[in-house]
Amino acid sequence: MARKKITVVGAGNVGASVVAYASAQELGDVALVDILEGVPQGKGLDMFQATPVLGVDTRVTGANEYDATAGSDIIIITAGIPRKPGMSRSDLLNTNVKIVGEVAQKAAKLSPDSIMIIISNPLDAMVYTAWKKSGFPPKRIMGMAGVLDTARFRTFIADEIQISVEDVHALVLGGHGDTMVPLTRYCFVGGIPVSHFIPGPRLEEIVQRTRDGGAEIVGLLKTGSAFSAPAASAVQMAKSILLDKKRLLPVAAHLDGEYGEKGIFVGVPAILGAGGVEKVIEVELIAEEKAAFAKSVAAVRELMAEVDKLL
Ligand code: APR
Repeated sequence: MARKKITVVGAGNVGASVVAYASAQELGDVALVDILEGVPQGKGLDMFQATPVLGVDTRVTGANEYDATAGSDIIIITAGIPRKPGMSRSDLLNTNVKIVGEVAQKAAKLSPDSIMIIISNPLDAMVYTAWKKSGFPPKRIMGMAGVLDTARFRTFIADEIQISVEDVHALVLGGHGDTMVPLTRYCFVGGIPVSHFIPGPRLEEIVQRTRDGGAEIVGLLKTGSAFSAPAASAVQMAKSILLDKKRLLPVAAHLDGEYGEKGIFVGVPAILGAGGVEKVIEVELIAEEKAAFAKSVAAVRELMAEVDKLL
């Protein structure tokens, strides 16, 4: 079987971490692209030199042009500027629409059969941008948000109960950001509802910390945003696709009638396999969850309208 190939665009904090996690798991050869001269080459070479120690045969190359990316199975886009304290959502959107639109178009041209995973923020709007500019069928394009949001939620819950993170399963719906909808009813610890372990008011506090998870880290770092957990999350998605594992993960996927919505990329549980987003799973929502999801969808649609003006 031919070795798989992964392109990572953006060799910053998130991109370099994606390369490290993907290489360490021997998911395939990696091409790292960035506009900064020498940076993708240097970070790529550094990672390549780690492979004997890790005991993996992963070829990592860095480049400023896209030739090195040709024929990739997966394209992971992390290019863009990260959110800085005090930066408005519109400022971020204006800059990143141009960057993500351009890189999605260039990368898609050289790897026309690939599957694209977007990490750049504002996430849902960037997935929409990449979809428009790549011309890819919607099943082959998705955004990384839900895996990260649930990872944060799972971490806090496991820490609260003092139990293994492996035994905590959770589900988050909706857009990435303030309007995300953590579904506490679907959160289980070793098969037991989380309410058995954590009383409602405390769980609400954990939900709020999850919602503010990105901002908490921006506040601490001051000069950048989270990168380890986002990168690990995207690599988990890539692994499910590359190995056709068919994992059920929350991702920003295209809806075509599911959850009563059409033509929007937003966080929902989906099966990821060799075909990309192979199936969106519709779970039953109670009135309050439906209202929160509708609010989240409305916020994403507002951002999509801004993207449409800029493209
Ligand atoms: N083509 C390729 N790379 C680009 C381009 C472009 N047109 N424009 C910017 N970049 C690169 C930058 O040179 C930089 O190396 O994208 C990289 C971004 O890296 P960081 O500034 O370290 O940002 P990072 O923390 O990695 O976040 C990247 O992911 O989680 C999101 O909100 C985050 O949108 C942000 C993205």
